[in-house]
Amino acid sequence: MDATDAVIRIEGLTTHYGTRRILNNINLQVRARETLVLLGASGTGKSTLLRHILALERPTEGHVFINGIDTCRASEEELNRVRRRMGVLFQSGALFGSMTLADNVALPLRELTKLEESTIQIMVRMKLDLVGLTGFGDYMPAQLSGGMRKRAGLARALAMDPEILLFDEPSAGLDPITAAGIDALILNLKKTFPLTMVVVTHELVSAFQIADRIAMLHEGEVIALGTVEEIKQASHPRVQQFLNRVPEEQMRDREAYLRSLTAGF
Ligand SMILES: Nc1ncnc2c1ncn2[C@@H]1O[C@H](COP(=O)(O)OP(=O)(O)O)[C@@H](O)[C@H]1O
Ligand SMILES: [Mg+2]
Repeated sequence: MDATDAVIRIEGLTTHYGTRRILNNINLQVRARETLVLLGASGTGKSTLLRHILALERPTEGHVFINGIDTCRASEEELNRVRRRMGVLFQSGALFGSMTLADNVALPLRELTKLEESTIQIMVRMKLDLVGLTGFGDYMPAQLSGGMRKRAGLARALAMDPEILLFDEPSAGLDPITAAGIDALILNLKKTFPLTMVVVTHELVSAFQIADRIAMLHEGEVIALGTVEEIKQASHPRVQQFLNRVPEEQMRDREAYLRSLTAGF
């Protein structure tokens, strides 16, 4: 791929929390209108990578370019411009409990634009329609199911018509049917709008449904990158462990066994 095609370009990204290395030399590009899934067990650094894409954290080494802008070097003003092109649905959903759904979705429009209130009302209704929450604008978050709260969070992420949409575990904690509904919604958004998406998940079914490409993370490194078919055929033992749900103990036994085979040489 020509580097200039990449909407998101991550180069040699390494990051630490204290002295602990969390991400190690990540190199990834996300193309325009592509859905890249970051797949991996919990604790492998998926959310950390997402926060770096959002420029909420600075890496120890390496760079994140959004549309060619190096967010590690950008001024605060440039960063704000870049962030406005990104919508994010965090794992927690993070709706404000004291506000109606409509006010939650309107918040970025009221804070970041000078649009007329009547225009904002129309935009809010459009976003709620888009995520299947027509008529729920006056509800409070606590009155909704988990799946509906996710949808409302998504409506808010879409409020500013972002070019890049980031999801952290959109179907975590949802029953399989509700989770499938969220996947279908993501697929529909992908068909309807020219969105570039990064979806963090540990759910295989979801990943296989929505991904154009999958980057598999393990202990802060990308250990496989490719289409769904390519990932299914990847020979890396940690990829196969994940796909076949092999417990960690069994992996350690296997590694010890392999070591014993070569010990005599
Ligand atoms: N703010 C933080 N401070 C210190 N350690 C953190 C912080 N956030 C995450 N970690 C650690 O970094 C590792 C990766 O975390 P995370 O990116 O949340 O993984 P994932 O999203 O794949 O579950 C974990 O071991 C986690 O405990
Ligand atoms: Mg996470």
